Amino acid sequence: MAGNAWRSTICKLLERYGAWISGQRKPKEVSRIMGAVKSQTQPRTFSRGMQTVTIIPGDGIGPEISTSVIKIFEAAKVPIQWEERNVTAIKGPGGKWMIPPEAKESMDKSKIGLKGPLKTPIAAGHPSMNLLLRKTFDLYANVRPCVSIEGYKTPYTDVDLVTIRENTEGEYSGIEHVIVDGVVQSIKLITEEASRRIAEYAFEYARNNQRNSVTAVHKANIMRMSDGLFLRKCREVAENFKDVKFTEMYLDTVCLNMVQDPTQFDVLVMPNLYGDILSDLCAGLIGGLGVTPSGNIGANGVAIFESVHGTAPDIAGMDLANPTALLLSAVMMLRHMGLHGHAKKIETACFDTIRDKKVLTKDLGGNSKCSEFTAEICRRVQDLD
Ligand code: IPM
Ligand code: MN
Repeated sequence: MAGNAWRSTICKLLERYGAWISGQRKPKEVSRIMGAVKSQTQPRTFSRGMQTVTIIPGDGIGPEISTSVIKIFEAAKVPIQWEERNVTAIKGPGGKWMIPPEAKESMDKSKIGLKGPLKTPIAAGHPSMNLLLRKTFDLYANVRPCVSIEGYKTPYTDVDLVTIRENTEGEYSGIEHVIVDGVVQSIKLITEEASRRIAEYAFEYARNNQRNSVTAVHKANIMRMSDGLFLRKCREVAENFKDVKFTEMYLDTVCLNMVQDPTQFDVLVMPNLYGDILSDLCAGLIGGLGVTPSGNIGANGVAIFESVHGTAPDIAGMDLANPTALLLSAVMMLRHMGLHGHAKKIETACFDTIRDKKVLTKDLGGNSKCSEFTAEICRRVQDLD
């Protein structure tokens, strides 16, 4: 079948199974999204003055850790104003799931979001809001830097790597169906365009962040066509980035080598599901999801930064939560916005607080409340002035 015929078949499949979960898109728009979007990895440059950022506090401990970040940003006099929006699942006119229009409109205007954890009940009947946000704004690159934190003891001391995960397709396409009773099929969708743009993102990220190598993580020995296509695009893009070393490795080998010696890795680029799993593994090397930042980046500077830990309903509202992952995600956001001075100051205050060990939340080995940890970071931020 020729390329275009395949594309229209896929579009029909997506339509039929309602998999293109952002709701209103018609096949023509789907092909535009799967097709022509050019990788845009240079952060937008902003004019001086106040920028608006959409904040989605989220569920469980989300509101507490969001308040913590807002306070620390105030202490650091970050020139942004927050627009708070809730994200819950709502059904659009066609019966498709969508995010509330107020949240969509805010993001459309601000282009930048900071988001706490959102719960997805397993039997909720609606898709994960986390995924719906990524789809709605076509946030195609999921970036998770994993860097060992001085003073926070883990079995590893000098991890310094970044996982870059394709964020829109693969097993996350949501195309599943029953073939006959007792037999289901799930489609792993890999496209040339999405593979190329994530590869380009990874190489540009390496170049812009003084990193030396990019490793493509794959299983093209087994999934010859899908991972084969992904790998081929990585190889092609690598040709245009001769200053960045390119290697390719099987996913299982990466897992093995990673837990033996993570220092051999730098930037890793991979399809969606591999990235979901490997990024958790890497977070584990530096102390877990409570201290690992994450950014979802789209074209033209649109991005949502988020903590990827859960909502921790057991401690919600008790002032016990650790805001570090959301705070470090917010630091990533500041760098994305070009606010490097503020980013550095907040990051330093956070890492100094952890290294000092005097004021830490329970999960970090201390006895302090979220508000006390927050106040300590604020104090250090002001001292750095
Ligand atoms: C993540 C999370 C999400 C994912 C969940 C919450 C849908 O695990 O951001 O890694 O699977 O991508
Ligand atoms: Mn995950």
